[in-house]
Amino acid sequence: MKIALINGSPKPRESASGRIVDALTAKIGEAAACVVCGAAEFARGVPAALWGSDALVFVFPLYVDGIPSHLLRFLDESMRDIAEAASGATVYVAVNNGFFEGRQNAVALEIMRNFTARAGLRWGLGLGVGAGGMIRAARMGYGPMKNLGKALDALASDILASRTGEDRVCEPNFPKALYNALAHLGWRASARKNGVKRKKLYLKS
Ligand SMILES: Cc1cc2nc3c(=O)[nH]c(=O)nc-3n(C[C@H](O)[C@H](O)[C@H](O)COP(=O)(O)O)c2cc1C
Repeated sequence: MKIALINGSPKPRESASGRIVDALTAKIGEAAACVVCGAAEFARGVPAALWGSDALVFVFPLYVDGIPSHLLRFLDESMRDIAEAASGATVYVAVNNGFFEGRQNAVALEIMRNFTARAGLRWGLGLGVGAGGMIRAARMGYGPMKNLGKALDALASDILASRTGEDRVCEPNFPKALYNALAHLGWRASARKNGVKRKKLYLKS
């Protein structure tokens, strides 16, 4: 079995999506041949590595309740080529977002389900991962990342069995109020670093 994991984060390194891709690849291990493609590769069209894949696993960040524009462009412009390269493949999607709630990703998963149908591929299932800001903060499967570790165990096993199923959501083992407070501290610190006063953050235009 060949599995292509497509990392749709525009960040060349240290992305939450990259961490999810690494964890899935490790969980799949020797059970299948995994290839990983990043944004730099699919910017040039369908990467050769996608050819002959039995499963396509899209992993990306939520941008404005949707799909990052470079990934959307790739899906739009290369739909036929993707369908030809990975004909009959099952599509799995893991979207992570900044807000705590994993259900924020429902619209992006819907868009991916529509893409899968239009491309004539087979929909597997989607996973909406909340609190993306924490994904790199702890070891996968431990502490606040315990739930995500379990969700990725289940996803890896679904991919290997070509299973289809209901979409799922996952949130960290961490209090939402504390996550939000830490996020605000981070935003304020980066505003300060960029010369933006706190008052300006709350201005309405
Ligand atoms: C342009 C932009 C738009 C975003 N839009 C949303 C959004 O609508 N909802 C949300 O919860 N997070 C949003 N985020 C936060 C990202 O989804 C979040 O930081 C994610 O963990 C980044 O993943 P990555 O490290 O894999 O790129 C946005 C981030 C950016 C840069």
